[in-house]
Amino acid sequence: MINTASVLNINFLELKQGIDALVAGGTTCLHIDVMDGHYVPNLCMPVKFIHEIHQAYPQLTLDVHLMVDDPATYIGQMQEAGTDYFCFHTDSTRFVRRTINQIRAAGMKPGITINPSQRIDEMLPYMEYVDMVMLMAVEPGFAGQALLPGSMERLAEIAELRKQYGCSFLISVDGGIDYEKGHQCKEIGVDMIVGTVHTIFKQPDGITEACRRFERELG
Ligand code: DX5
Ligand code: ZN
Repeated sequence: MINTASVLNINFLELKQGIDALVAGGTTCLHIDVMDGHYVPNLCMPVKFIHEIHQAYPQLTLDVHLMVDDPATYIGQMQEAGTDYFCFHTDSTRFVRRTINQIRAAGMKPGITINPSQRIDEMLPYMEYVDMVMLMAVEPGFAGQALLPGSMERLAEIAELRKQYGCSFLISVDGGIDYEKGHQCKEIGVDMIVGTVHTIFKQPDGITEACRRFERELG
């Protein structure tokens, strides 16, 4: 599985050291949360930041998670900033298919995110058109929350639907994953885990060593 480390978990006063430590540990993908204060009650990560990360670390895949109303508004800016995966919530727009098409046309990989309040089968109309389905295992908006019960079963449901319909999207899970759940994710067929405090950040041996452990145990 790919460790897509959540930048939100780094102390912003130490961002560069944090990202350098991730890279030294072999991280190839960063998860960048964008919140507009409307879709979720929090604000973070301006487009400028994504651009600067892309300039400084062009080798990294940028997995951008948009927790915003009307995500299509940001397609042009995200493309210019260097976004690879443009992942948005299916309940944040009335025009999911159109948004997916526009993201693809702009040269990015479209992903959809399913909230804890949504049924998994809400992804059915879109799953053949996306490169990623990301399950929220916590309520969106804040880092460091505990994983919601039932999340593993929901991931298994996504994996089953992918198999049943012969789709090729990657399955990602965002929020609260520790090593025990990480191993379960691997068995289920999850492809990407958003790196959390429990796996990557605030680990006793530091970020770099934590990335190596992820690679050894879950990679
Ligand atoms: C929450 C964010 C997550 C968060 C995950 O809204 O989307 O990316 O940073 O990290 P943890 O597991 O620390 O909550
Ligand atoms: Zn996220």
